[in-house]
Amino acid sequence: MYSTLKEVLKEANDLNMAVGAFNTHNLEMLPAIIKAAVKEKTPVIVQTSCGTANYIGHKNLVSICKSMADEYGAEVVLHLDHAKDYDEIRKAIDAGYSSVMFDGSSLPLKENILGTKRVVAYAKKYGVSVEAELGTVGGTEDGIAVAQDEVRYTDPADAVEFVKQTGIDALAVAIGTNHGQYKSKTNINFERLKEIKDVVDIPLVIHGGTGVKEEDVKKVIDLGIRKFNVGTELLVGWNRESKACYDEHKENISNRENVVPCLNVIEEIVSRKIKLFKNID
Ligand code: 13P
Repeated sequence: MYSTLKEVLKEANDLNMAVGAFNTHNLEMLPAIIKAAVKEKTPVIVQTSCGTANYIGHKNLVSICKSMADEYGAEVVLHLDHAKDYDEIRKAIDAGYSSVMFDGSSLPLKENILGTKRVVAYAKKYGVSVEAELGTVGGTEDGIAVAQDEVRYTDPADAVEFVKQTGIDALAVAIGTNHGQYKSKTNINFERLKEIKDVVDIPLVIHGGTGVKEEDVKKVIDLGIRKFNVGTELLVGWNRESKACYDEHKENISNRENVVPCLNVIEEIVSRKIKLFKNID
């Protein structure tokens, strides 16, 4: 089944769990991500940056996600991650993405609201879900770096106003996580997350999921996180395995000998993450 973000996050909310949102960087990762979700019996969000979408082709991604959802019996959302440009968002919606994120987090609140409203107006015509961000997550995403002194936690009062005015389906919160953090772990501001959850009644999204300590996953889900983004851990897992395989194998070996072990690593990571996100004691 090819679903929207709104639909799967509603299911997650009913079950007090989070849905895993995994960034793919190439076509090869897709079946591994989707098969892991089927094995764990949960929906899955496949997300691409604008860069990945343009590299693979939006329509290719849409048709492959739909056909894999059918073939494997999976519930799949295809989501555009961190788009700052309205035209990039339109391109994804027109091609059939079922969910998009407008990232106006670097803009003043008023402009973030205006930009987000414009995206929501377009997306709603096609039944596409919208995530937006308030505050700033640190670290580096798709080559764009946010310095630590530019990081701003999400302000709960602003969040209330933002959600009310924009009509978004999910809110990405800045609570101390960083994109791309994999050599150390994040100190999450649980107090701030609770303050936001107490006043905002739509699903909340955590970015920079790679750096989140396993023991913190349950705590943030209990505080309203319903979409859990993981990117860097897959990338590092793939690259490490790939490097080892290419170093070890002869140059005229079938390419599958180098790729399949990487897929196994991806499937294992996605499976392990989803088990945590199910939030079952
Ligand atoms: P990580 O790459 O740090 O896991 O973050 C992923 C993310 O938040 C995508 O938006």
